[in-house]
Amino acid sequence: MERDYLYRAKSEIQELYIISKINIGEGMVSKPHGGKLVKRLMSEKAKERTLEEKNSYIRISISERAALDLENIAYGIYSPLDGFLREDDLISVLNDMHLSDGLAWTIPIVLDVNEGNINFTEGDEILLCYNELPIAKMDVDNIYKYNKKEYAQKVFKTTDINHPGVANTYKMGDYLIGGDIKLINEIPNKFSKYTLRPEDTRKLFKKNTWKTIVAFQTRNVPHLGHEYLQKSALTFVDGLFINPVLGKKKKGDYKDEVILKAYETLFKHYYPKDSAVLATVRYEMRYAGPREAIHHAIMRKNFGCTHFIVGRDHAGVGNYYGPYEAQEIFKNFPDLGITPMFFKEFFYCKKCKGIVNEKICPHPMEDREYFSGTKIRNMIVEGKEPPEYFMRKEVYETIMSFENPFVGDE
Ligand code: ADX
Repeated sequence: MERDYLYRAKSEIQELYIISKINIGEGMVSKPHGGKLVKRLMSEKAKERTLEEKNSYIRISISERAALDLENIAYGIYSPLDGFLREDDLISVLNDMHLSDGLAWTIPIVLDVNEGNINFTEGDEILLCYNELPIAKMDVDNIYKYNKKEYAQKVFKTTDINHPGVANTYKMGDYLIGGDIKLINEIPNKFSKYTLRPEDTRKLFKKNTWKTIVAFQTRNVPHLGHEYLQKSALTFVDGLFINPVLGKKKKGDYKDEVILKAYETLFKHYYPKDSAVLATVRYEMRYAGPREAIHHAIMRKNFGCTHFIVGRDHAGVGNYYGPYEAQEIFKNFPDLGITPMFFKEFFYCKKCKGIVNEKICPHPMEDREYFSGTKIRNMIVEGKEPPEYFMRKEVYETIMSFENPFVGDE
């Protein structure tokens, strides 16, 4: 008998609605953060001229993370940022989780350089290159030093170098440069078919006449807990925007192509075509838990979404953050302009015979099977199919079609 674990009794769904304290309201595609969608693309003419004159510019090499950040600035995903943070904004983001003009902003978007590579001064225009390819022109406004330990403590709430975000911070150059950018080229994109920019999604939502759109951030292949989360949220809004982040991840996470293929499969078999959309965004995970949850919500607000799903340990890693810290932080941002939808941890309960959470399941721990990423990963490594209440068979088969679905050592 085919059992569908997703569709529980209507009363349970209604309960979810109440416990997640969703205020659906009238709805309207969200205004960009700060009021205006940023676009920092160089015109074709200016591009030609800049490339012709490229040897007269000072060029510096930037990391993949910075190149992706650049693209996100240029296409308005980080609106209202026009460029990399200047010192006053960085200090304000670190200390107050707001830009110096008072707008909410939690993750520093900074460009780091080593002292030896600073052969330019404030006021210069320089070219930023990735693998020799000039990708942007930058007006250098501000060159400044920062304290990595303080940066790590404030952003990640730890200075433990076993935290991947802290380890990355300690590898950064000792100086930061702030200033506006203009994008010349994008770095090659294997997944352009699934790349939608805020301008595109806003048009799409309008075309679909969706007024309330819930966004789902993910860095993982989908298990049934994810699917339940998404579909519970979709029950109350017009559209679902599934937006996996592609870009460098930590060892043991799933490779980009695996995440995308797994979602393609899930969409093909189990998602309503007229109310769910899959699009990727290139972005390097910071694993900054609560601060990153706010940042993820701002990015999706810029895509035009009105709601944002925050489940258990959003953007977390190890045990650095409390399971619901990424939900609690939203209390400090009542005017964010995108409504969070909070969900308690979903698990499978053998007595309920369904996917439930602690609010709606009266049974003891022994009856519960939690969606442990490690457990599912181990099953995949051993070639053992996870139980059908953990993962769709088609998704498992898609993952298994890859020789090695996981990110290895750098
Ligand atoms: S994340 O780093 O992008 O947050 P992941 O892709 O695993 O990691 O999670 C995506 C979203 O699903 C996050 O909001 C996370 O809190 C939520 N989530 C993942 N698993 C569960 C679960 N079992 N119950 C509730 N929420 C979950």
